[in-house]
Amino acid sequence: MKKKLKINGEIQEIDADADTPLLWVLRDHLGLTGTKYGCGVMACGACTVMVDGRATRTCAMPVGAFNEQQDITTIEGLPGATHHAVQKAWAENSVAQCGYCQSGMIMTATAMLQNNPAPSDTDIDKHMTNICRCGTYQLVRVAIKQAAKELQNG
Ligand code: FES
Ligand code: FES
Repeated sequence: MKKKLKINGEIQEIDADADTPLLWVLRDHLGLTGTKYGCGVMACGACTVMVDGRATRTCAMPVGAFNEQQDITTIEGLPGATHHAVQKAWAENSVAQCGYCQSGMIMTATAMLQNNPAPSDTDIDKHMTNICRCGTYQLVRVAIKQAAKELQNG
């Protein structure tokens, strides 16, 4: 199946079976290896990208379900002030340990902050359902709050 998708702002021509998970199109067809494979069953969040600004897990989402009108953003293509604040907060708090889950964590956090620049603890618990084997959950929370504060202070 041939189709076009808008990925990181550019139209890409894809030639893949319609039931190929988007994750493998990103990684194997387009070389965007920042998006990771963890569980393959939509449970861990390592494969999270943004689709029209919403955090979306890609490991079991067939590429045939997406279309050219949607904006698909991977960790390689994150733009803007929100991502800058998230990156800075992640670095200053040394959030990443082995780093494997962190692309998905950052995509999920950035999507949440774009829609909700001042998330409560409850909001963070609700949105940050990504799994981290290194146990970075508390550092992720601290970094999200720091990024939120920076965004609110402009
Ligand atoms: S690899 Fe997609 S949710 Fe775990
Ligand atoms: S930093 Fe190692 S799995 Fe999360």
